[in-house]
Amino acid sequence: MRTPFRVRVPASSANLGSGFDTVGLGLALYNDYEVIDLLPQGEFSIDVVGEGSGELHDPEANLVVKSYLRACAEWGMPPQGLHLRSVNAIPLCRGLGSSAGAVVGGVLIANVLRKRPLAREELLPLMTSIEGHPDNVVPCCLGGMVVSCWDGKDLRHVRLQALPREIVTVVAVPEVRVSTSKAREALPEKVSLQDAVFNVGRVALFAASWATGRWEELPWAMDDRLHQQFRAKLFPGGETILEKVRLHRECLGVAISGSGPSVLAFVKGNPEAVASTMCRIFSDHGVRSRFFVLDVDDEGATVTALASEEA
Ligand code: HSE
Repeated sequence: MRTPFRVRVPASSANLGSGFDTVGLGLALYNDYEVIDLLPQGEFSIDVVGEGSGELHDPEANLVVKSYLRACAEWGMPPQGLHLRSVNAIPLCRGLGSSAGAVVGGVLIANVLRKRPLAREELLPLMTSIEGHPDNVVPCCLGGMVVSCWDGKDLRHVRLQALPREIVTVVAVPEVRVSTSKAREALPEKVSLQDAVFNVGRVALFAASWATGRWEELPWAMDDRLHQQFRAKLFPGGETILEKVRLHRECLGVAISGSGPSVLAFVKGNPEAVASTMCRIFSDHGVRSRFFVLDVDDEGATVTALASEEA
């Protein structure tokens, strides 16, 4: 494919409570990475519009560029410079997979420039090794709800059916940021056998319920003892939201989205009622927030040729 072209990546929500580092869902909120032109090797020019504008211009720190360079190195390809324009709708450092989107975007850009591009499935191990865990990059790349297992080298994954139309995803996004590395540092190194068994049961129930459409099991299935109790303390209102939102009649389960601080709920009924409870709790704790009512993204990342006048 010739320039200009666009790589579009969806947001994603990892863990869904019990499925720490394993379960993730693609969400219909997108970043577009437009490759306007190829530049001489080592030259990068980055324009950013939307989320992260003003802070993602440095190629040395930009994760799309870093992931692109990593893929080029992996494949022994000379790293052609890029004029890149990012049009970002995924909030940064809020647990909605913005870094996974950048990793998937960078690797897909390199893949477009390969002599023989690889299939998306073949790119997943490289994407996962850049990100360090599979539960955002795999649903970001493939779309849908995906259960993934990664042992540092090999990846296994199974995609599950989409949500029925009457169930929507509500995500409340506070203004505060939490970096994934800080949220991982907050976790204990060891867990008790009792807590491990608790989560094994819950995440198995989650996958079985999702696969068979037993949505009424989700509130139980999303319960967790491995990470949320530690992470809910890292942002104002976290503990209260997890405790209160699940009591909503229309809520089918609530969890910290990824490593936080956004919170995600599945809702059958009126999404605004659940969203306003979440945002009110954030506001009671002195934090401004916004909410999104999102469909599941079922397509994953896409690559499209652009007409020169579109770029
Ligand atoms: N599974 C990862 C974590 C997701 O919870 O740290 C980070 O987005």
